[in-house]
Amino acid sequence: MEELIKKYNIEPVFYRRYFRYGAEMLYAFLLQNFFLFKKGKFLNPIKKKEYFDKLCREEIVNFYENGFLRIPKVDFDITTRCTLKCKYCSNMMPKFRQNGSHVEMSFDDFKYIIDVLFDSKGGGLNRIDIIQLIGGEPLLHKQLPEIIEYAAKNDKIGVIKIITNATILPSEKLIETIKKYNDKVYFYISNYSTNPELKGLLKFEEFQKILDENKIKYQTMQDLSWDKEGEFKDYHYDEQTLKQMFASCVRSSCLSIINNKLHICAKSASGNELGLIDVKDCVNLKDNPNLRQDIIDFYKKDYYEACKYCAISEEKVIPAQQVQM
Ligand SMILES: C[S@@+](CC[C@H](N)C(=O)[O-])C[C@H]1O[C@@H](n2cnc3c(N)ncnc32)[C@H](O)[C@@H]1O
Ligand code: SF4
Ligand code: SF4
Repeated sequence: MEELIKKYNIEPVFYRRYFRYGAEMLYAFLLQNFFLFKKGKFLNPIKKKEYFDKLCREEIVNFYENGFLRIPKVDFDITTRCTLKCKYCSNMMPKFRQNGSHVEMSFDDFKYIIDVLFDSKGGGLNRIDIIQLIGGEPLLHKQLPEIIEYAAKNDKIGVIKIITNATILPSEKLIETIKKYNDKVYFYISNYSTNPELKGLLKFEEFQKILDENKIKYQTMQDLSWDKEGEFKDYHYDEQTLKQMFASCVRSSCLSIINNKLHICAKSASGNELGLIDVKDCVNLKDNPNLRQDIIDFYKKDYYEACKYCAISEEKVIPAQQVQM
């Protein structure tokens, strides 16, 4: 690897963040794609390290020789509306309800973002491995079938994952749309059934039954527990702490798009939209003549503005505890 780093004069932070971490994520994606959609081949985890190296080398050569640009995983925050009000929501959704102002991504907004990201005169992306449709509750979005269809038809997008709290059952139109793209669209159903407070609100089993009957793929987790989120405020961390926090933050693996801006994570996206922080280190996706370079430069940071306001404790809590409003 050293010879490639030298040859292309790769900055350490860009190597770590874009190539090395990117290769680890690509490996995870390929393995999941094999198990879930029976695509590709089995990459034995015993040889994980060898695969990381191989993928990393390929990505470096592809980037510098062919200009190949990839985003491994990105959330599209299609609505901040939700059917629940979870106290420790990682995306701070209840605060939008409290403020009485929601952010919606229409189908046209979604289409614009996809088009501009892949446009050779825009982002010039070659690949997004995983698009996650989230919110809020994505099933509240009236144009969810159109959004899914548009993403599924794009062969530069690997997989579309819809994350739901299972409080609303999927419509017939949604089911029919997903059935057409059964080889790349699936649900992740958050399992909040360990929370007795939500009894009567969750349709967890019914939801799974519908998906089973229609042979739609999904994943879920038994005994899901949550991270206890600290209040979003300036913690005055020193530089070293911020770098360490960011380096070990699993949530930084998934970028987040809201209101035509690409953020490092959902906290940055929501914090900015709620007016709690003024995020300068996101990428503007609208009318940006420098989009491709901005996306590349986005991967050259050791930590981001939002990290200063973020506190995720190691303490685990019952998922989806509700706040009273
Ligand atoms: C913000 S939610 C949006 C989608 C949908 N409303 C839901 O709850 O599934 C996306 C994912 O983040 C997870 N999540 C939210 N807050 C969390 C926390 N404090 N710790 C761990 N996971 C969390 C949820 O369980 C869900 O799987
Ligand atoms: S975690 Fe809870 S409040 Fe947050 S989006 Fe999901 S269901 Fe809504
Ligand atoms: S703000 Fe920083 S530390 Fe917090 S979740 Fe986002 S990337 Fe991670």
